[in-house]
Amino acid sequence: METNDPNKPADRTPNTHPGRVLIFDSGVGGLSILQEIRRKLPGCELVYACDNGAFPYGTKPEHVLVSRVEKVLKALLPRVEPDIVVIACNTASTVALPKIRAHFTRPVVGVVPAIKPAAAFSQSRVIGLLGTPGTVSRAYTQQLITEFAGDCRVVRVGSGELVQLAEDKLRGKDVSPEKIRDIISPIVMETELDTVVLACTHFPLLLPELIHAAPRPLHWIDSGEAIARRVQSLLDADHRTTAIVPRDTAFACWLTAEDPDIDRLRLSLLGMGAGKLHLLGEV
Ligand code: DGL
Repeated sequence: METNDPNKPADRTPNTHPGRVLIFDSGVGGLSILQEIRRKLPGCELVYACDNGAFPYGTKPEHVLVSRVEKVLKALLPRVEPDIVVIACNTASTVALPKIRAHFTRPVVGVVPAIKPAAAFSQSRVIGLLGTPGTVSRAYTQQLITEFAGDCRVVRVGSGELVQLAEDKLRGKDVSPEKIRDIISPIVMETELDTVVLACTHFPLLLPELIHAAPRPLHWIDSGEAIARRVQSLLDADHRTTAIVPRDTAFACWLTAEDPDIDRLRLSLLGMGAGKLHLLGEV
């Protein structure tokens, strides 16, 4: 685990170190982004942090969310010392990015709904937008729709329940196919709709269940691969040696609170390549 121990001094100079990327979300959702970054940049040093102490973000008022994200990152940054921060959360990115960027001198990558690629793909010009209640109603999301999908009809579904189902899945609990069917029914009822934006990082973790629940094939789009490409280009620009594959690529995880299901969650995290778990505690 040494390569991921944030307390261990390492040679972090460009051209010798692949760069350390902090991936942050309210819960397990950002792991869908982490997996894409890992696939693209297997040599990169990744650190995952989830603000489970304030989960869920999707139903919180904007001002509460902005100050919470700011607080948690302020506590995490000196401990992790990342070269790049990825806010792997649409709910937070669509409202808190400017403030976060003002506090951190290194690049901050946000994850926002993949409206542009969805509009580019859709033949029928009817698109589904599946996010948290916060994300689907944000002014920022509306701006993306106006700018990139002005000629499309966008069917929005905001669901906190689907977020919880993804959390349950990673804790080894049963995920009810009926519940998923009910949640996505406003989208699949639109017979012309051909493309769905997974505008919450939790939802790619439920992709097999979503595909199973949909009565016909749909094109499901998320932001994971685009974010991995963005991270790579930032690391390249910083002369990071992303081609190097370290001896141990396990990623460290930070939680902001104890988790009552930690043993079951740990199993999923291990399966995804996690190493040490750290508790950030009250922030
Ligand atoms: N994973 C998050 C997102 O992408 C937020 C989920 C939540 O905490 O409600 O929006």
